[in-house]
Amino acid sequence: MCGIVAYIGSKVARPILLEGLKRLEYRGYDSAGIAIIQNGHLSVQKKIGRVANLEAAIEGKPGFDGSLGLCHTRWATHGGVTDFNAHPHTDDRHGIALVHNGIIENYSALKTYLQERGHTFNSQTDTEVLAMLIGELYEGDLEKAVQGALREVTGAYAIAVICEKEPDVLVCARKGSPLLVGIGSENEYVVASDGAAIIAHTARAIHLDDYNVVKITREGFRTTDIHNTALSPKVQQLELELEQIELGGFQHFMLKEIFEQPKSVRACLGGRMDMREGRVVLGGLAAFAKDLTKAKRVILTAQGTALHAAMIGRYMLEDLAKITCTTEYASEFRYRNPVIEENTIVVAVSQSGETADTLAALHEAKERGALALGVVNVVGSSIARETDAGVYLRVGPEIGVASTKAFIGQVTVLSLISMHIARKRFMSADQCLDMMREMEAIPAKIERILEQSQRIKRITEKYVERENWLFLGRGYNYPTALEGALKLKEISYIHAEGMPAAEMKHGPIALINEGLPAVFIANKGRQYEKVMSNIQEVRSRGGHVIAVATEGDTEINKHAQDVMYIPEVCEPLSPMLAVVPLQLMAYYAAVARGHDVDKPRNLAKSVTVE
Ligand code: F6R
Repeated sequence: MCGIVAYIGSKVARPILLEGLKRLEYRGYDSAGIAIIQNGHLSVQKKIGRVANLEAAIEGKPGFDGSLGLCHTRWATHGGVTDFNAHPHTDDRHGIALVHNGIIENYSALKTYLQERGHTFNSQTDTEVLAMLIGELYEGDLEKAVQGALREVTGAYAIAVICEKEPDVLVCARKGSPLLVGIGSENEYVVASDGAAIIAHTARAIHLDDYNVVKITREGFRTTDIHNTALSPKVQQLELELEQIELGGFQHFMLKEIFEQPKSVRACLGGRMDMREGRVVLGGLAAFAKDLTKAKRVILTAQGTALHAAMIGRYMLEDLAKITCTTEYASEFRYRNPVIEENTIVVAVSQSGETADTLAALHEAKERGALALGVVNVVGSSIARETDAGVYLRVGPEIGVASTKAFIGQVTVLSLISMHIARKRFMSADQCLDMMREMEAIPAKIERILEQSQRIKRITEKYVERENWLFLGRGYNYPTALEGALKLKEISYIHAEGMPAAEMKHGPIALINEGLPAVFIANKGRQYEKVMSNIQEVRSRGGHVIAVATEGDTEINKHAQDVMYIPEVCEPLSPMLAVVPLQLMAYYAAVARGHDVDKPRNLAKSVTVE
């Protein structure tokens, strides 16, 4: 949700900034902007649309060849998608330019105050207010003015600020939104919202903490809090390879990430299953073994795809570990005054580790005394740092806006956690071993499904003109149905509803008309016969049934018009296979409809506003 890149060093900043910005474009792509200081003069260019538009707009334009600058790619919150509302925003007195990710909540009161003091605004954004406030407080020291302004604002921010009057200074700060300072070898610094924009230049970086302000010059940097108390942040090594954030021959990141899933599961499982002792080893949870054993209740909280993974985790925790478990939208949990009894564990599930709602739910849970665990992908992210303990997904950076490999990673980790707790309670070593063998076999089974991708593409293309789809599943695959519908909606803009197959006849059955595509997850399992009955209900009303079925099931061909096969698998792990054809369907539908798969309209990766 908005990406920031800033540079100070000895090189020309523009190509470094634009290349970094392209790598962050998945965070928002409504508009982009850049500000550069060259020979003591500030130049700013903003453009709606993609970074490529901005690049074209400054091509050959004078004023953009300095070695200090900042840029931004936007996902609009306050104010529409216009050039004026794009970042950077400037003050009206000192040549200050600022980029911002987050929301300034008290911007309206601050704006009135600043207007009374004679400032004129050009945009409807909250960010311009912060730029003006820094300008209002500026008395020849940018760092001081930024600290002063940040003492006045409430809300969330990651910011980078430059000022024409201090052409060798870059000031950055963070509260609630991520910001990293990459430390290059030749007195250069690249600051960015995530490591993807830094790794081409350096792997050494500082993750800024809330209320950190960093003043960077070519000679070095100093970190303080907003009250100017000096701090000594730790320099860390970014665990990121350049090839992980490149397309590597795939047309889209989403497709690359779908095809990476066997590798993702292998990475996620690596070293976590002790086949000799029949137990799951999760180093991140080791210090909390007692809390896990005596836990009375687990609350899994997340948003979107991560919530669907959490729902599968819930079934497993109840099924395998016999713990009362609920799942909840983080956005609802936070505001509904939840009851947290003793021995409750709250697990925040999140790819980015920055989702504002999930982070807020986590704070609420901690406030009420729960043990807070994280199931997170991005190392060092806010959720990862604020939980008491956790387990990383290890699936590598997910760049496609539609989450795929992170979902598989989340289900894998939640399976491991369920088995880990189950083994401390009711599960025997042999039962655990059986399940671990099933887990080990998952990557090769996903590979078998991926081999059918062209067949799945052909099936999808038969239905791609239809505007309404249903996704139906039962038990462990009810959340898979929700996930299939979400994937289709978000990248192909087709209306899709996911629901428990049995729920259909309580209302949604009215939607079924001639040719409506109904995707059933109809793998072999406890509820197979019941799903067959639900399929009949759709068929007899003219719906077209596309089934995800178990290899070797020939009976299904009598009921479904189209079948996509998955290998046989135990029921708790079946979503990890059943979701793959649904991800591919969504992808091929979006491509067939001519959409930009990695940058679906109105969306952005990592929703850092509530
Ligand atoms: C859907 C999708 C979103 C995210 C949700 C939570 O494809 O990506 O629904 O799952 O915004 O994001 P994280 O997992 O980063 O907390």
